[in-house]
Amino acid sequence: MKLNIALLAGDGIGPEVIDQAVKVSNAIAKKFNHEINWTPALTGAAAIDAVGEPYPDETHAICEAADAVLFGAIGHPRFDNDPSAKVRPEQGLLKMRQKLGLFANVRPTFTFPSLIDKSPLKRERIEGTDLIILRELTGGIYFGERGRKDNGDTAFDTCTYTRAEVQRLAKKGFELAMTRSKKLCCVDKANVLESSRLWRETVQAMEKEYPEVEVSYEFVDAVAMRLVQWPNSYDVMITENLFGDILTDEASVISGSMGLMPSASVGEKAKLYEPIHGSYPQAAGKDIANPLATVLSAAMLFEDFKLVEEAQAIRDVVNKSLAEGIVTEDLSEGGKAYKTSEVGDWLAENI
Ligand code: IPM
Ligand code: MN
Repeated sequence: MKLNIALLAGDGIGPEVIDQAVKVSNAIAKKFNHEINWTPALTGAAAIDAVGEPYPDETHAICEAADAVLFGAIGHPRFDNDPSAKVRPEQGLLKMRQKLGLFANVRPTFTFPSLIDKSPLKRERIEGTDLIILRELTGGIYFGERGRKDNGDTAFDTCTYTRAEVQRLAKKGFELAMTRSKKLCCVDKANVLESSRLWRETVQAMEKEYPEVEVSYEFVDAVAMRLVQWPNSYDVMITENLFGDILTDEASVISGSMGLMPSASVGEKAKLYEPIHGSYPQAAGKDIANPLATVLSAAMLFEDFKLVEEAQAIRDVVNKSLAEGIVTEDLSEGGKAYKTSEVGDWLAENI
């Protein structure tokens, strides 16, 4: 197969972890006889510095023309402490999601047998955890009407959803549930929010199209609690943008490190793959960040192009590296800490 992939390394540790995913993907291409063309493009603070814009038109054109996008991270501390900054790296990410129509964000949480005891949660609570949070990504409070009034002393952000937006996300949730244990949990705050009541009523109306799927409805505050009590009781979950943002960060550390969980963002056509973690500016340029989340994001990419064996080969080599202790400092705990690039080299050589 021939794949054209746009490569958006972004900020902080983005370029370092992306390099490792490219090494591993190229090793897969060689082994399984595929051709991958990588096209780098600017995004985030790096793009602001170069052209004054966090998601330049040229980058959008490259992403649109590509079969998929592999994304590193964006964000820079110099913007975080400056609430008056007019242009922010994060705006690039939001613009990209919107312009590429990436309305469904697939964020899995699973455990690695060799890391079970690295989890902040007890072994018996997390064993068997394998869930996917499907987060709506182009609507809700992130994209609603916002502003200031009363001379700037009052600020507002509004959460708006249409039935069609809920339906297209829920459809992906039902379809995903059908390929797994046929359990779907709709996470909302329907006891308080009107937009949540629209979510619930829309999903309820869709239940009859998927009679085999067992649907549950839970409030987001209760889910936040149950996710640390019994994460292994969940399978596919669907939720709106902001709830999904918060719950997926909570869920992402269950496996033992922030640097492990991959994600995919998909729409009608475009596909983007990125680690769940952020730009980790304190580690930028030090060659210490864990590249596995990005490498596993590349595995999700291959799988979406029906290259199932290729995806499995990546997961197998990642498991092997963890079992043999070829790990970065976040997981080394007294043992040898390998560099980001050394882990990438080891994975590529062992494919
Ligand atoms: C994420 C990030 C983004 C979000 C930020 C960087 C805008 O936290 O991908 O989860 O809030 O969606
Ligand atoms: Mn987030």
